[in-house]
Amino acid sequence: MKAQPEEEIDLSELVIREMELDDLSAVFSLGEKLFTAEKWPSLYRTWDEYEVVGFFESDGEFCYAAELDGKIVGFALGTIITKRKNAWVYGYVVWLGVKPKLKGKGVGKRLLKRLTDVFIKHGVRMMLVDTDSENEHAIGFFRKNGFSNEVGHVFLTKNLQRKKRRRVNSLSPPTKKSHSHLKRSGIADKE
Ligand SMILES: CC(C)(COP(=O)(O)OP(=O)(O)OC[C@H]1O[C@@H](n2cnc3c(N)ncnc32)[C@H](O)[C@@H]1OP(=O)(O)O)[C@@H](O)C(=O)NCCC(=O)NCCS
Repeated sequence: MKAQPEEEIDLSELVIREMELDDLSAVFSLGEKLFTAEKWPSLYRTWDEYEVVGFFESDGEFCYAAELDGKIVGFALGTIITKRKNAWVYGYVVWLGVKPKLKGKGVGKRLLKRLTDVFIKHGVRMMLVDTDSENEHAIGFFRKNGFSNEVGHVFLTKNLQRKKRRRVNSLSPPTKKSHSHLKRSGIADKE
């Protein structure tokens, strides 16, 4: 079968702008497609509604959306880190996502550039980013965009569910909600 030519997408109307309250649901839905437990079972940060709302509430000035034809096609959520007795201000790119259909078309780069500019305005001297060690595409993207000095970091887990269950069993069974939360973060499978 003949391969279909890739659909041309006109990005001339693409706008990178500050995230607004009305964008929360669209940003959350896009993130749900990108940061799935199946794809990144070891991603220690959890993508959920509270994550998006929390960033918007506490770090609204570091939350950006990419909009095309009235639809959200990307987002960048960041924050600033300061340390006691350290004059350096760090800009942390916590979540960056682009609609898969638009991958490789410069949207991520523009979001990152916008966040970088606002970090600079806030006195940031160094940017940080992290992702799953198997997320080669994102690592390639960050390298291409000037990030280096990769440092390995290991996350360990300790499952407290079994112990808790034994104690709690006589009172009540564990709730569905708590189990699904553990499953989502990839912990439940590692008993
Ligand atoms: C990673 C991600 C944000 C990149 O966004 P994108 O819009 O696809 O990337 P861009 O098209 O803006 O790429 C910008 C530049 O990086 C380059 N690049 C992108 N991915 C690359 C890769 N894997 N290796 C090398 N270079 C890469 C592009 O060629 C482009 O170079 P240019 O400036 O010379 O043209 C996006 O693919 C995504 O949403 N991934 C899933 C979510 C995720 O993993 N987020 C990161 C962790 S929070």
